[in-house]
Amino acid sequence: MTWARAILLTMTFSTIATALQASVTKAPFGKTQDGTPVEIYTITSGKAEARIMTYGARVVSLKVPDRDGKVGDVVLGYNSVAEYQADPSTYFGSIVGRYGNRLAKGTFAIDGKEYHVPVNNNGQSLHGGTLGFDKLVWTGKEIPDGVEMTLVSKDGDMGYPGTMTTHAKYTLHGATLRIDYTLSTDKTTVANITNHSYFNLSGDGSGSILDEIITIPASRYTPVTPVLIPTGIEPVAGTPFDFTKPTVIGKRIDEANEQLKIAGGYDHNWVLNGQMGVLHEAAKVEDPKSGRVLTVTTTEPGVQFYTGNFLDGTFKGKTGAVYAKHAGLCLETQHFPDSPNHPSFPSTLLKPGQPRHSTTIFTFTTEAKK
Ligand code: GLA
Repeated sequence: MTWARAILLTMTFSTIATALQASVTKAPFGKTQDGTPVEIYTITSGKAEARIMTYGARVVSLKVPDRDGKVGDVVLGYNSVAEYQADPSTYFGSIVGRYGNRLAKGTFAIDGKEYHVPVNNNGQSLHGGTLGFDKLVWTGKEIPDGVEMTLVSKDGDMGYPGTMTTHAKYTLHGATLRIDYTLSTDKTTVANITNHSYFNLSGDGSGSILDEIITIPASRYTPVTPVLIPTGIEPVAGTPFDFTKPTVIGKRIDEANEQLKIAGGYDHNWVLNGQMGVLHEAAKVEDPKSGRVLTVTTTEPGVQFYTGNFLDGTFKGKTGAVYAKHAGLCLETQHFPDSPNHPSFPSTLLKPGQPRHSTTIFTFTTEAKK
């Protein structure tokens, strides 16, 4: 091969590589009530588009093709920061923390010292308390194929010990959105971080998710008390919580089952069969209508499958449609709720000098009509 040919070949390969790389643009997205500017990053892969803003590190929209190649937005959300701020309780698209999900009575102990964090949900602490990570403005930085969001939560923030830094890297390849988290602290603290996007594979604002089909590779789940605090770990076999085989979400949701009654549908943590720390499947959702399929893989030990039971028609989304009960579903990959008060659950302690890494990947594909 001549030098000229070698150079030409190299150039061709690098052109292809560039073409495969997602483009990233940044734009202003208004201001929070206290005047802090918010930015939105648009990541375009050629096949899909994700928009992520610095307020709550939220996924604002995620456009992926259906079985006919028609692109549609598959996450719930709003058109302005003001609307996000007017809704304190859905957590649309956000990264929740410092302790995502619930802590019983907002109380936990580290090395014998008791801590109290704000209770904001039936006497329990939910998603980090009254001013959790979802309601703070993160710092965005463009990275190859995406954006890195960073948040520094000061020692004592919402009552938690230690200054904790969270990095969340969102990257888009084809129709795959990947989130890589790194958490670190300067004093031992507790942490549980997840993304709280609501998916509707037929499209944002298209109605209920009850006809979508879900598979969750988990033989066990954590049943809850009436205030949604886990009581322990139980098998799913023989219950409406067994999603080890593909099942229509609405099929058993109204069964006379105490756990379904307590939560008004599904709002539980499944104990994934895969090994923590290694990528494994958390859930697969198939939408017979659009043909879209979402596969979630994660390194986390659990997933909160939530069927949008508390959406009650109060809020109108991006398309102008009202979000009624079951307008979207969440797949919050996570450590188990209230872990600091359950010594048998995987530990959520975050120690100085021992950063915690985790990854969750949302892959969109399509399938033909069955
Ligand atoms: C999580 C919780 C639900 C609910 C939503 C937000 O999924 O488990 O109970 O609070 O967040 O509305």
